[in-house]
Amino acid sequence: VAEAYRGLRTNIQFANLDKDIRTLLITSSTQGEGKSTTLANLAVALVQDGKRVLIVDCDLRRPTQHKIFWVPNDEGITTYIATNTDSKSLIKTTVVPGLDLLPTGPIPPNPSEMVGSKKVRILLASLAAEYGTVLIDSPPLVPVTDAAILSAQVDGVLLVIGSGSVDKNMAKFAKESLANVQAKIIGTVLNKVTSVDKGYYYRYY
Ligand SMILES: Nc1ncnc2c1ncn2[C@@H]1O[C@H](COP(=O)(O)OP(=O)(O)OP(=O)(O)O)[C@@H](O)[C@H]1O
Ligand SMILES: [Mg+2]
Repeated sequence: VAEAYRGLRTNIQFANLDKDIRTLLITSSTQGEGKSTTLANLAVALVQDGKRVLIVDCDLRRPTQHKIFWVPNDEGITTYIATNTDSKSLIKTTVVPGLDLLPTGPIPPNPSEMVGSKKVRILLASLAAEYGTVLIDSPPLVPVTDAAILSAQVDGVLLVIGSGSVDKNMAKFAKESLANVQAKIIGTVLNKVTSVDKGYYYRYY
């Protein structure tokens, strides 16, 4: 499993040789395809490669990164947007040395407006300058617009596709909604490949 995430890390590092991908949004077409799991494991793989990594949880609908990394979520990016609190005081260190996390904070009634605000754009730019890599978690693309809005503010987008669980038309819709805002899709992750499909992996290997 760890080798699969290291492979993903390498592929991302080679995905764009001309421009450094400092801010990367991870999204998918529907719920539960594995965005948050992929992001958390990729973050650890990048840290193991000597990178300084920040996770920003922009899934203001179903936040999970604070649960994965055991940090409190009483304050976070929503606190920064609503109250002008210094973002540095909201970023938590994690049990993984070199990996920091800006959790969501309290869930707001208007997530799309929040992630689309000028404040978020400015914050992501300044965090990208400070950290080598900023990984951004997000809600799925088909039900809500948050991820499409965020995709226009980042260097690249990684589209997670739940193997066998997502309808082709949903995946196409997701790709089109990213294309509509000129987002740069650097690649896709085919996630949750079952043991029956594994022959494919080994053939590829
Ligand atoms: N490669 C995998 N193998 C096995 N289980 C997985 C894999 N990826 C994700 N899961 C499991 O699938 C479930 C959904 O994963 P996750 O929360 O990462 O999805 P998500 O796309 O972030 O969901 P949401 O849309 O709710 O934010 C979790 O229980 C997770 O542990
Ligand atoms: Mg998630």
